[in-house]
Amino acid sequence: MSLTPRTPAGTIRSDQVGRDVDLYGWVHRRRDLGGLIFIDLRDRSGIVQVKFDPVNAQAHSAGGELRPEWVVHLKGPVQRRPPGTENKELPTGEVEIEARAVTILNRAQPPPFAVNDDSPVDEQVRLRYRYLDLRRARMARNLQLRHRLTKAIRDFLDAEGFLEIETPVLIRSTPEGARDFLVPSRLKPGYVYALAQSPQLYKQLLMVAGMDRYFQIVRCYRDEDQRADRQPEFTQLDLEMSFVNEDDVLDVVERCFAHVWQKVLGVTVPMPIRRITHADAMLRYGVDKPDLRYGLEIEELSSSFDKTEFKIFRQALDAGGVIRGLRIPRSVGAKEIEALTEVARAEGAKGLAFWHREAEGWRSPIAKFFGERELVDLQAATKAEPGDVVVAVADQVEIVSAALGAVRKAAARTLGLVKEGAFEFVWVTDFPLFERSKETGEITAAHHPFTSPRPQDLERLASEPLKVQARAYDLVLNGTELGSGSIRIHDPELQQRVFQGLGISREEAEQRFGFLLTAFRYGAPPHGGFAYGLDRVVMLAAGQETIREVIAFPKNQQAEELMTDAPAPADPKQLRELGLELVRPPLKRPQ
Ligand code: AMO
Ligand code: AMP
Repeated sequence: MSLTPRTPAGTIRSDQVGRDVDLYGWVHRRRDLGGLIFIDLRDRSGIVQVKFDPVNAQAHSAGGELRPEWVVHLKGPVQRRPPGTENKELPTGEVEIEARAVTILNRAQPPPFAVNDDSPVDEQVRLRYRYLDLRRARMARNLQLRHRLTKAIRDFLDAEGFLEIETPVLIRSTPEGARDFLVPSRLKPGYVYALAQSPQLYKQLLMVAGMDRYFQIVRCYRDEDQRADRQPEFTQLDLEMSFVNEDDVLDVVERCFAHVWQKVLGVTVPMPIRRITHADAMLRYGVDKPDLRYGLEIEELSSSFDKTEFKIFRQALDAGGVIRGLRIPRSVGAKEIEALTEVARAEGAKGLAFWHREAEGWRSPIAKFFGERELVDLQAATKAEPGDVVVAVADQVEIVSAALGAVRKAAARTLGLVKEGAFEFVWVTDFPLFERSKETGEITAAHHPFTSPRPQDLERLASEPLKVQARAYDLVLNGTELGSGSIRIHDPELQQRVFQGLGISREEAEQRFGFLLTAFRYGAPPHGGFAYGLDRVVMLAAGQETIREVIAFPKNQQAEELMTDAPAPADPKQLRELGLELVRPPLKRPQ
């Protein structure tokens, strides 16, 4: 048996002239010229023009009825468009179909927004009618790109000897640093599953099981506040390898990206991807995910001003702080300086010092506070040229980094310094193992507790935990963190020591992670891996601003799925079975 004959609309070309085709799809646009009627017929592959001539009476009268988004079956020959009427914008623009038979398969209400253009529509409306939004060309293109990208990843990893293995979603909580989504158990009342934040422990257990090279394209769940690049459920490309070191993991991941970028975008990623240490990234770019599509490197200026009498700088240095600056290779007006000062303030800086470099010297409201030598040093450190502006922040190092990192980003954007269309990949390596939580002040894992410390730092684990470096790495593209990974701990004793560094006692560790520690006692191979956010990768490959644009049915900023209206109230019977009672804050009554 063969399939119903059908020609994809977007594939028809002039070499098919004279052939009869069967088209199935949606009315994209309709033009009634009195006698002749034209429609653009759309299916997933694209659009093609269809002509309804009064000589074909049945077809012409049906054509007169058609409206946008009606679903039709059309039959007729492919014809060359008359000279002068070709449409160069369309791949099918040299041809049209003459409709000889028309079947209306379904009628449609007028859609709440035009499907046949890309005019801006409120995102909440797009999400409520997502099936219409996905008919629009840009969204359809994004989903097709996502498919091709996913397939290229699978093909690459398969050729490299990776096995795709599924791991459970309903699990015991695995700490990845986010809040868990909990699922109460009906069969074990009073107990819960967590939805997996990542397959981290299962993939490590697969290495203990001898699977050697694992990958999975896997949905992960994290109850976090939503952002442009964050969703409560998102997809990771997760992988793990046995008997490897950092270079091996980085090598596979970067070759995977090179393959995918070549295959899907036709773009060559220069290999190897450059590397920068975490400390260097913080110093030069103020962030651990630097955007390298522009320069604007941060300069250390503390020693230039070590004898300064400018009170603000003096106080910062005396309090153990630093002074760092940024040369902006543009003349920047007062308004822009003010905006950048606000950006710095939002990150906790008390202000933004600035100097205009002019042919004769420096112009600045604070010029009078600085002596000849300081200005010579400032010149040497920043290599400013006439027309440039140098800005600086004095404070504790964390604030200076955050403020200048943000100023750097804002200046690049507003002054048009970003190289558009560029893909700047960079590895960030040598992360600290631990960090101090801003909220609680406690020591937490910078990546996750299963990351291995560097062997040379082992003796500092207990004495100077914050100085210990991890065998961890991030991959960054254009200022977005694509993914993270590390070489793992595979020794149960070392794992216990790291847990202790995190304030988890031996007993608690045995209780929460006993299965892992036990597995490590049965011959665990050295192993390491990586996971990247597939949504983020597709977003950047497709040149989109949010991951919602590359997810078929995403949640909005309040984590609601507007089309089906999730989350929704629970059925009392279901709650009783689960032994749950939900406390809902009282609805606010309109005043
Ligand atoms: P990590 O927690 O860094 O590492 O996550 C890896 C990558 O997943 C993506 N990501 C997200 N994407 C969209 N929405 C979210 N809420 C979200 N959270 C994370 C990011 C991130 O870089 N198990 C470790 C990996 C490993 O060590 O192998 C892990 O999950 O792109
Ligand atoms: P003020 O004396 O507060 O008017 O500040 C003089 C200049 O120094 C202004 O341009 C401020 O924005 C800037 N400034 C204030 N605090 C800092 C700081 N911590 N680092 C850099 N510049 C600052």
